[in-house]
Amino acid sequence: MSKEAKLELDGKVYSLPTLTGSEGEKAVDVSTLRATTNYITIDDGYGNTGSCASKVTFIDGDQGILRYRGIPIEELAEKSTFVETAYLIIYGELPNAVELKRFSDLLGTHQFLHEDMKYHFEGFPTGAHPMAILSSMINAASCFDEGLMKWQWGKMKQFDVYVAKLISQVRTIAAYSYRKSHGLPLIYPKQNYKYTENFLHMLFSMPYEDFQLKPEVVKALDLIFLLHADHEQNCSTSTVRMVASSQANLFASCAAGVCALWGPLHGGANQAVLEMLADIHNSGDDGSKFITASKDKNSGKKLMGFGHRVYKNHDPRATIIKKACDDVLAKLHITDPLLDIAKKLEEAALKDSYFVERKLYPNVDFYSGIIMRAIGIPVEMFTVIFAIGRMPGWIANYKEIMDEPKSRIYRPRQIYTGKTVNHYVDLEARK
Ligand code: CMC
Repeated sequence: MSKEAKLELDGKVYSLPTLTGSEGEKAVDVSTLRATTNYITIDDGYGNTGSCASKVTFIDGDQGILRYRGIPIEELAEKSTFVETAYLIIYGELPNAVELKRFSDLLGTHQFLHEDMKYHFEGFPTGAHPMAILSSMINAASCFDEGLMKWQWGKMKQFDVYVAKLISQVRTIAAYSYRKSHGLPLIYPKQNYKYTENFLHMLFSMPYEDFQLKPEVVKALDLIFLLHADHEQNCSTSTVRMVASSQANLFASCAAGVCALWGPLHGGANQAVLEMLADIHNSGDDGSKFITASKDKNSGKKLMGFGHRVYKNHDPRATIIKKACDDVLAKLHITDPLLDIAKKLEEAALKDSYFVERKLYPNVDFYSGIIMRAIGIPVEMFTVIFAIGRMPGWIANYKEIMDEPKSRIYRPRQIYTGKTVNHYVDLEARK
């Protein structure tokens, strides 16, 4: 029998139902509170608010656990690929051989953009940030597809095709964004390349010379995509759910996710980490001055790549990525002074009472930038890589909303703290 919570307000006691998730997480259901009591709940930054029930991803921030559809991230990182994991996240089960082939074939079939989209890329100035191009072009892709323009909410026979189109085309758009922002000719995807190989090809090949794909580079990038593939209700995923709840089409909803991801407190942190490390290096600091500054709220500095709203023990993705970083650098025979600074910063922060007391540990972004730099990904593309990786998670969350017969538009309340009734004053009478 489910428990009830008792709430006493203005001398009256109200019963509120509770819910327990499949991993024992508990919630008090306050959805009827306003109707029965005239009170709403308030939780700035949503730190204690469950906005939905979801079957996609489980995180236990205290234990440092992350599982996609129940499977630990460590197992997927070791045994799976990004494409297979994308299928798992979106459809809820690992694909069998036939399903995986069908999914991979669909990705291949839909990887080309409408040829006229090339002219839209031309409108962006050289030097435009690829995240701006990415979100704009995902949205613009709707204009080239009748099915997206006439999106039939919940009645989509072709939903699988749109899933494949988005996962495949986001990679093509991302590569074109980079080529455009550097004034380079666009390179078409190749049918015989796998997902991550094709991305590297479109990013780095030239019309007269194919990029030489190194297996360790392909593997490292595929792992980065996989580690970013979902992360439950974060800023961008909740944005996608918010937009989806209005029944906007899949591409429009995920384009909004790209915008939410861009900020330095979220996906933009990987770029910010590398810029921070480069600044420390260029200033001749060994990291100690920066650590001191990051503890001072007036300095305007934070130790980027540290801290997480949910993980308060360790971020399991950071553990995997740190090891991958050491492996890739060793295989490619690269020494990177920024990696040395990162390691020093981590060592110093983990011993420092400021970081220990606040439970601030390295997050996924702390080492991902160093791997990406080692394999030649330009720094302005770091957050774009995160966006490509996160697409399956956004799609799975979109699908949950679309498949839920009782889904309602997201519409939070607020506590108004502005002026009470006020009156219009004619311009000439204003001071
Ligand atoms: N450096 C220095 N101090 C920090 C840091 C940091 N990186 N992160 C948090 N703090 C301090 C913060 O100032 C606050 O101190 P006090 O209690 O004295 O006011 C305390 O720790 C709690 O921080 P918070 O800002 O209330 O925590 P939050 O849950 O609102 O924010 C966060 C989480 C990730 C935005 C934040 O830790 C941060 O800004 N980190 C740096 C940016 C970053 O690496 N972001 C990537 C997150 S992982 C990728 C993703 O999933 O998006």
